[in-house]
Amino acid sequence: MEFRKLSELELKDKKVLVRLDLNVPLDNGKITDDTRIQAALPTIRYLLEHTKKIALMSHLGRPDGEVMPEFSLEPIGERLAELLNLEVVFVKDYTSEPAEHVLNQLSKNQIILYENLRFHAGETKNDPTFARQLAQGFDCYVNDAFGTLHRAHASVVAAAEFFPANKRAAGLLVEREIEVLSGLQKKPTAPFTVIMGGSKVSDKISVVLNLMQSANYLLVGGAMAYTFLKYQGVEVGDSRVEHDKLDLVAAIYKNAEARKVQIILPEDHIAAEKFGKDAVPVELNTKSIPKGLMGLDIGRKTAKHYADIIALSKTVLWNGPMGVFEFDQFARGSLRVAEAMADCKGFTVIGGGDSVSAANKAGVADHIDHISTGGGASLEFLEGTMLPGVKVLLK
Ligand code: 3PG
Repeated sequence: MEFRKLSELELKDKKVLVRLDLNVPLDNGKITDDTRIQAALPTIRYLLEHTKKIALMSHLGRPDGEVMPEFSLEPIGERLAELLNLEVVFVKDYTSEPAEHVLNQLSKNQIILYENLRFHAGETKNDPTFARQLAQGFDCYVNDAFGTLHRAHASVVAAAEFFPANKRAAGLLVEREIEVLSGLQKKPTAPFTVIMGGSKVSDKISVVLNLMQSANYLLVGGAMAYTFLKYQGVEVGDSRVEHDKLDLVAAIYKNAEARKVQIILPEDHIAAEKFGKDAVPVELNTKSIPKGLMGLDIGRKTAKHYADIIALSKTVLWNGPMGVFEFDQFARGSLRVAEAMADCKGFTVIGGGDSVSAANKAGVADHIDHISTGGGASLEFLEGTMLPGVKVLLK
């Protein structure tokens, strides 16, 4: 995939418009996880070494074209100022006053951050008028918003198109994410183990089918494991099963057989009578689950088996928790997988969302080789889809 990189842009004294994904979780205006802000720093620092005229832009949440104070990027600007040790000029109105005015007044120790792009309906509509307002007055465009590359939005696609192809490039985070995730699809060092969890088979089917071209083992956990077990004729009691997705599971088995991928399913479970924070865990030593109980985590034997396979793997990708890890009594399977990945000598990747939270909960995130900053974006990328935000940066 030949896309233009930051190192290929002539940046000296240029005015640079930068799309970042600063969509971080907030609780009452307080940032609860600044991973995405930290991940954006190398590109910002690189740009600041070459020019002092940069404007950062991002979305936050889904305010749907309305100005909603709880989705303001102001607290993110404050955090950026702290981390970069410079002044962040927060611009609320960037559609009526040309950015050039603000850019020309910037002093050496200042950068611009625009208010939430999604306060404007034109953003999610990929509206060319809004995109022009964003792009006007800038010389170059840089996209380092990996988590948003699957969205054909104005700041991702239409604004980029206002710049000549040799004036738009991917930032350092996007470059790294694409390098790692493409590597998993091309020639990962074998044995390559893919661990898939989460609730729905339908969410992961395309990823699984695509990765089967390079995987050796597929370990299945989370609620989707019960649909796999059901397909195999195993009694799963009251566990969540997607009855209308059994044909998708059949397609996965057919593919696995053709490509000699071993699919491994849970052989024991942590179950409960109901789903909930106060559900009482029951350890089941059997593959089957009796009526009246539902599986909510993989059992000890399964967790050990999965950890053993991870230990002998040279490449591992994990996407989706093994159980309802947000409730402590059903978190053990996910935590065990996270620990096994941290101990693994091979190259380890966690693909977005809940499995990242599980790695954080296990306290092992620092020992994983690559943690993707994209949830939906990393999944769509691993499906083999050409993301709109990448397409616009191709050479
Ligand atoms: C994400 O959190 O996955 C990205 O920031 C994209 O957000 P969205 O799903 O609201 O487009």
